[in-house]
Amino acid sequence: MQTLINKHILLGITGGIAAYKGAELVRRLRDQGAQVRVVMTTAATEFITPLTLQALSGEVVYTNIMDAETAMVHIELARWADVVLIAPATADFLAKLAYGHANDLLSTLCLATTAPITVAPAMNQQMWQAKATQENYQRLQEFGVTIFGPAVGAQACGETGAGRMLEPEELVKALKTLFNNWGIKEGKLEGKLEGKKILITAGPTREHIDPVRFISNRSSGRMGYAVAEAAIAQGADVTLISGPVSLSPPQGAKIISVDSSQEMFEAVMAAISGTDIFIATAAVADYRPSQQAAHKLKKNENEAELILRLEPTLDILASVTNLPNPPFTVGFAAETKDLIKYAQSKLKRKKLNLIAANLVGIDGIGFDSEENALHIFWNDGELELSRCSKKELAHQLIDIIIQRYQLEK
Ligand code: CTP
Repeated sequence: MQTLINKHILLGITGGIAAYKGAELVRRLRDQGAQVRVVMTTAATEFITPLTLQALSGEVVYTNIMDAETAMVHIELARWADVVLIAPATADFLAKLAYGHANDLLSTLCLATTAPITVAPAMNQQMWQAKATQENYQRLQEFGVTIFGPAVGAQACGETGAGRMLEPEELVKALKTLFNNWGIKEGKLEGKLEGKKILITAGPTREHIDPVRFISNRSSGRMGYAVAEAAIAQGADVTLISGPVSLSPPQGAKIISVDSSQEMFEAVMAAISGTDIFIATAAVADYRPSQQAAHKLKKNENEAELILRLEPTLDILASVTNLPNPPFTVGFAAETKDLIKYAQSKLKRKKLNLIAANLVGIDGIGFDSEENALHIFWNDGELELSRCSKKELAHQLIDIIIQRYQLEK
């Protein structure tokens, strides 16, 4: 994994007991080759001295915006940083950040910087759970702030719960992952999908029999939503065409809600122009009732059985790859057996650039569950992604899509 050589890390330390871990954090970041400059709030200086951090970082430590000699330091530091890491971030500081306060050096430079801001909250578990803190946390996520932790465990106050700052070692690992996922352009972090238009289908479809009944499937939409989030994290401009699911929409995605496969088909065709990458995670019905009754079907006591006639739906994925100028296209395949054979044949038949196949019908993975495992195929290669959360898997899948897209386009 990439190290942090020459990365400019601006470490903000706020006033919590975990501030003492700042010393080890600086040391570990420097061990990875990073340049670290430290800004402390006044409260933080009660827990650890600026002198300690100055000795460890080899740089002047800033505490006060009002120092005459550091009058424009917030602008200088804001420009210098490749990333801002606030660790520990107290409940008070999260509130300041969530509402754009600028009443000390650290909060001011957070407003002045274009570098990504990351925070490692540390507080009493009740304070973390407090409605106000949780709302601030949501708000910060909406602003694109990356939040590391907090961890669950024993706390300095004697209580146990969520609110511990991640250990310095874990924070270093999290920063490395952040830098790995992002490229650097003109000295700034940039997602590898910046400026790319990505269209994703997700969830099940509903094929109506009458106004109250439909045929559907067990897809929860989780995989597609996670893929959308992972693409957004890489800076993509994401449109998510979603069947009926009970998930909150990923922040930053344009959502188009649809119901039937026909509606999904029309929404995809209306949005496809200019798309760079199309990812079909939706579990689209292959058949729908040939006729939709205008009124609720009534039970007929005299009929021993009811026969429902079905007709094929349009294949959205194949329709996209048959367009004159198709985008880089990724399909999904859910199989209960012969995964490799079926996935490879779908890859060819539907003229896909890549297919992500998974076995369904296994407890705990696939449809309607939090975890999954994927076997990915392209024309001359394959890769297996072992079982993990759909969110983690989505990041790995997006990485592979980026690599293949860059090679093939
Ligand atoms: N798909 C689609 N439109 C359809 C059906 C499927 O876009 N009407 C897409 C899915 O989103 C998925 C892929 O096609 O990406 C897999 O389709 P699937 O239904 O599994 O493939 P089929 O070729 O229909 O094969 P089978 O149902 O026999 O497994």
